[in-house]
Amino acid sequence: MPAWRLSRHFLGRPASVTEARRFITTTLGTWPVIESAELIVSELATNAVRHTASARFGGKFTVSIQAEPDQVWLGVVDEGGPEVPRLVRPGDDEGGRGLLLVANLADNWGVYGNHTGRTVWALLKVDPIAAAQAACR
Ligand SMILES: Nc1ncnc2c1ncn2[C@@H]1O[C@H](COP(=O)(O)OP(=O)(O)OP(=O)(O)O)[C@@H](O)[C@H]1O
Ligand SMILES: [Mg+2]
Repeated sequence: MPAWRLSRHFLGRPASVTEARRFITTTLGTWPVIESAELIVSELATNAVRHTASARFGGKFTVSIQAEPDQVWLGVVDEGGPEVPRLVRPGDDEGGRGLLLVANLADNWGVYGNHTGRTVWALLKVDPIAAAQAACR
């Protein structure tokens, strides 16, 4: 299967989280990593609209998918701000589950950028044979 890359912008508001998830669902279709990809993008999009300047009036965030035969790279680009993505030990009601879930689901993940804009990314490995079979369904 050829490699491809697709990006889409979303308004930085809570309702966009559902739209971002749907973007993943429709774009990745039958890929075997679809469920993990949906969960990861939901968490990263939620963080973008909750913790970053993307939530300001007129703000936006961008979801990118880069698919290759043996892996899917997912990135959520926000508009930065004073907070920094970090793994926190989840308390009873303090949150901190989102990035932990991403770290558990992804084969690798990370952050780059600074207060003017950050990309939080996750990598999902794909069995190329399973991916090719799924593409024929
Ligand atoms: N894109 C981001 N930019 C800046 N800070 C971030 C970003 N994503 C997460 N953070 C910071 O990292 C912390 C941990 O994020 P995480 O998603 O694990 O928990 P949460 O969003 O606080 O709660 P939960 O996801 O469980 O509802 C956040 O509280 C926030 O301070
Ligand atoms: Mg979160």
